[in-house]
Amino acid sequence: MSDQATRILVIHGPNLNLLGRREPEIYGHQTLANIDSMLEAAAKELGVVIDTFQSNHEGELIDRIQQAMAGESGEADGVVINPGGFTHTSVALRDALAGVSLPVVEVHLSNVFAREAFRKESYVSPIALGVISGLGARGYRFALEALAEHLSS
Ligand code: DQA
Repeated sequence: MSDQATRILVIHGPNLNLLGRREPEIYGHQTLANIDSMLEAAAKELGVVIDTFQSNHEGELIDRIQQAMAGESGEADGVVINPGGFTHTSVALRDALAGVSLPVVEVHLSNVFAREAFRKESYVSPIALGVISGLGARGYRFALEALAEHLSS
């Protein structure tokens, strides 16, 4: 193993920029900025480096994922992603995640299995190391911990 710190890319998909204001009874009161700073603090404790990215655009999410590939400018060792609504629709996003061959942990703030039927299907879950759904913002922290541990083992 190299002595370079483990790098984890944290990706937030569409509409997650509205957290705190968007359906707070479902997604909670924390803003995305709160979540990202909580993750920065958790990353420090875990001794990993994170880069956070949010976009409402499928192509931008795919571009950022491709940059995480070994040898690219935004290279990472693993990905934590809340794909938002693209979870249930995007073959292209799944292909990008599979294509970069990095371990992926999928996160959802809400319990997608307790909601509408269309949310029960995820294009990402079959290629993910694991999925955390329904634990609110804490779910991102658990995902980061699990991925950091996975990458160090
Ligand atoms: C979500 C669940 C998705 O079904 C939804 O489209 C989102 C957020 C969540 O975090 O619970 O945008 O990924």
